[in-house]
Amino acid sequence: MGTGENPKPGGGVFTARDAARAKPSREADPCTMIICGALGDLSRRKLMPAIYRLAVDGLLPASFRVLGAAREDHDDATFRAAMREAVIGSEEAGAFDLDVWTGLSDRLFYQRADLTDPAGYTAVAERLAALEAPLERKLANRLFYLAVPPVIFESIVRNLSSSGLAPKLEDPALRPWRRVVIEKPFGTSLATAQALNTFVLGVLAEPQLYRIDHYLGKDTVQNLIVFRFANSIFEPLWNRGHVAQVQITVAETVGVETRGKYYEGAGVLRDMFQNHLLQLLALTAMEPPVTMSADAVRDEKVKVLRSIRWLTPQTIPGAAVRAQYKAGENGGAGVAGYRDEPDVAAGSTMPTYAALRLSLDSWRWKDVPFYLRSGKRLAKRVSEIAVQFRAPPLLMFGHKTRQRMEPNTLVIRVQPNEGMSLSFEVKRPGAKCALTPEIEVSGVDMDFGYERTFGASVSPAYETLLLDVMLGEQTLFTRSDEVEAAWRVVDPLIAYWESHARARIPTYAAGSWGPREADALLEADGVQWRTP
Ligand code: BG6
Repeated sequence: MGTGENPKPGGGVFTARDAARAKPSREADPCTMIICGALGDLSRRKLMPAIYRLAVDGLLPASFRVLGAAREDHDDATFRAAMREAVIGSEEAGAFDLDVWTGLSDRLFYQRADLTDPAGYTAVAERLAALEAPLERKLANRLFYLAVPPVIFESIVRNLSSSGLAPKLEDPALRPWRRVVIEKPFGTSLATAQALNTFVLGVLAEPQLYRIDHYLGKDTVQNLIVFRFANSIFEPLWNRGHVAQVQITVAETVGVETRGKYYEGAGVLRDMFQNHLLQLLALTAMEPPVTMSADAVRDEKVKVLRSIRWLTPQTIPGAAVRAQYKAGENGGAGVAGYRDEPDVAAGSTMPTYAALRLSLDSWRWKDVPFYLRSGKRLAKRVSEIAVQFRAPPLLMFGHKTRQRMEPNTLVIRVQPNEGMSLSFEVKRPGAKCALTPEIEVSGVDMDFGYERTFGASVSPAYETLLLDVMLGEQTLFTRSDEVEAAWRVVDPLIAYWESHARARIPTYAAGSWGPREADALLEADGVQWRTP
């Protein structure tokens, strides 16, 4: 133990008292993972690399197999070849290990089926029965993963239910289990999310449902809970008495790439705010849960989401900014503007960037602004939460020094360079000069980096989340009331912006930090965005 001691640039060290990679305390249940939409983008880019990583890390259950199902004309051999390509081409999968792959590949199967047609399920059921035949019945667990466009979520859930492949099981302890993973976006508005919840909860029970928000699978996001509630020094400061403001940034350098069609119906609010940014806010602001059980944690997150003051047509213009990227630069190369991306309307007013000031009506956070921003084609890929503490009540170090002093800020780096840092002021070495009777004060950082301390990179989110589904652990998945509470926050804004769609939408150059209007939003409060 204690092997995680690494020198920190600047001299200090953080020592991991136990640097071994954490493993779950029990093995995941044996199961068949049925990937609906097995040849799609999500399956290739995220699911198969995550399954491969689980195999590399020795975390797959002893009896595990994948049954890919989709319309495409493939068989087991060609499906295996396509998945091999996907793993080799994936950065998240890490180095390709032929032995691991060979062991895994033998457990991949494919069934061609039109999953929107009830008839398609007969073939899937027969194939599943054949694969499960050698197993004891109680080990024949099934994990259905809906890696399909949201418009067919409902039809697939209906067919899974009516075909008997996934009956409603209220008792999570029953074996074999039937679990269904639903990707985001869950609905496109509060009304559609409510309708989808009503429908799925009619045919499946909440303990069978795993609504994914992959941000919750990121190690750093889970660390927020540990950092807040396993340490006693920050919690007394974590409130309106000591925190001046919180900034949550999720900036991407990529554009909409090949997803123009989807994005034209989503925009940044549905794509990023309703889920990822509000989850980061909820975990930052929530009260300590009674226990770490899935429901106790989710109860606290729901309370935060419900405490967010509703945006109204009167408050929106002074609290929210939207914008769209125009042509600019990315990594030194010229890139197109949003309206010139494939499948995007020439006159589209869909925002690719938004910045909001949210207020939480709660005892803990009253009058502490939460500034949220996210956009595509920004200057840097970075996701972070910055908690800025109040300035000292009195500064005695001379006028010039005072101007340079920054308030203490705790930055949680969600990605990349995962870790956290705390900035504070120190005296610069050197004697005080008689001619300039001011102590020289300098800002420094106390910095913790995951990789530096633990010697291992963080696990890809989907690896964590898939394992949790196999373990029946729902803490990192969103509950029905949580999804709806998040839609309640963004719905009025979406409605307002859609009803003002013809108004000029501000733009920002690709490769910049967003529109001027977003700077003005904070300047109105006498503050500035951080430059991560
Ligand atoms: C997805 C969005 O949920 O998250 C994408 O649909 C976005 O538009 C992605 O690019 C960002 O995820 P990450 O893990 O790369 O920050």
